[in-house]
Amino acid sequence: ARLVVLVSGSGTNLQALLDAVADPAYGAEIVAVGADRDGIAGLTRAERAGVPTFVHRIKDHADRADWDAALTASVERHRPDLVVTAGFMKILGARFMAAFAGRIVNTHPALLPAFPGAHGVADALAYGVRVTGCTVHLVDAGVDTGPIIAQGVVEVLDADHADGGEALHERIKTVERRLLVEIVGRLAREGHRIEDRKVWIPA
Ligand code: GRF
Repeated sequence: ARLVVLVSGSGTNLQALLDAVADPAYGAEIVAVGADRDGIAGLTRAERAGVPTFVHRIKDHADRADWDAALTASVERHRPDLVVTAGFMKILGARFMAAFAGRIVNTHPALLPAFPGAHGVADALAYGVRVTGCTVHLVDAGVDTGPIIAQGVVEVLDADHADGGEALHERIKTVERRLLVEIVGRLAREGHRIEDRKVWIPA
């Protein structure tokens, strides 16, 4: 399967995917990496792996719809079977959703539907939950509302309240990278169907 990965930051989830696709048995290749900003480690990781990259910054476009069209066109050019948003911090536009509906996989650092949005780790910590984790899900028109594929659980420690959630986020990301690699591989090799908001991967 052909994957396009979208990133906004350090790209450690991308790196886990880049490492996984090095094994042909994984059943997927990363054909391009896109970003909404430049100068990020995620792009460097792609370049180091010899994967083509593209950047579309919202501020370089007349409006959000124009950015959406440009991003959609760049991704379409690579004919992906799946798009993975791995720490991509922008909400995808209507055009993008129409082009890739049901084929966009996102990873979120909380147990959805709790704590959606850009501050999932901090929000869970502030609420005082004792367990949190990560969610791999399909993207729909809402923010972190799409059908859930898999979740991983991480315990919150008392000490996590001392550093603003940094260590907790690192423990979540360790689980997250493993889960994302596992799920993307299964989707790539086995496909999936969506039924009544449930995602089924043929076993
Ligand atoms: C991940 O925890 C992702 O879920 C969140 O941002 C982090 C991205 O990390 N939204 P990285 O860029 O893959 O290292």
